[in-house]
Amino acid sequence: MKKTLSIILCLAMLLTTVAVFASCGDTKSKVKVFTEYELTAEKYAFAVAKENTALKDAANELLAELKANGELEKIINSFFDGSATFAYENPIANPPTGDARDDYLVVATNAYFPPFEYYEGVKLTGVDMKIASLLAEKLDKTLYIYDMEFDSVITSVKEGMADIGMAGMTVNEERLKTIDFTTEYYESAQVLIVREDDTVFADCKSADDITAKLSAQAKTFTVGTQNGTTGYMFTAGDEGFGYDGFKNLTTKGYTTGALAVLDLANGVVDAVIIDKQPAIMIAESTNK
Ligand code: ARG
Repeated sequence: MKKTLSIILCLAMLLTTVAVFASCGDTKSKVKVFTEYELTAEKYAFAVAKENTALKDAANELLAELKANGELEKIINSFFDGSATFAYENPIANPPTGDARDDYLVVATNAYFPPFEYYEGVKLTGVDMKIASLLAEKLDKTLYIYDMEFDSVITSVKEGMADIGMAGMTVNEERLKTIDFTTEYYESAQVLIVREDDTVFADCKSADDITAKLSAQAKTFTVGTQNGTTGYMFTAGDEGFGYDGFKNLTTKGYTTGALAVLDLANGVVDAVIIDKQPAIMIAESTNK
């Protein structure tokens, strides 16, 4: 009798363990992007210090060349379709200082923003990184890619720790108060990501439908965004950036868009708002 009881107990314990493991795997949902409904209209450019007109001119000249000979489009397409082969590893571990500083083009970025900047192992790649390498070549300098929080890119350029910010950065009046921008090289937009089984936005047929739904949510509804980005400003509201935001809901800031999407998949937040092409790429890798 005792033996039967302990066998039953053992079996019960085994079953609970199996059930716990199975449900662990189940809690991560797939996510989907509303790619067609663009919540904002944005243009990317590179950030330079106001007084650094020489670098701004050189970058503008390069962009003009790349636009004229069709290279820019080719570079962008190659990173969108995955056929690009470019990847760069910094020749030195830390940002250059002292006499060596002048030999380098120091590029500030936040390398968690595919297809514009991201890691391939230890190497850096993406549209902006490829253009950075062409700019360094044009200036006859060695490229150093300075990966930092997106929040810090503008300050680092303003204070000269970096020469140029190349980070899928949206041109904006508020930012122009602190730094200058080169000519624009890409058009983008904020988009919404939700879990595949989401019902809140299920019958949305336009960007306006989405903003109406966002306005109708309560504080218990949380939207994840990347700190310091236009996605954050759009969601939380920012006078300088010209966004009223959605004060009715909760905005949660993350150091990267990928972490926000992971939390979305795990049910920690209800939606994510980030730039369109990164949204597509991050959702794709989260769903793998
Ligand atoms: N375009 C948005 C902005 O300028 C997001 C850029 C984020 N870039 C990045 N490398 N993480 O605010």
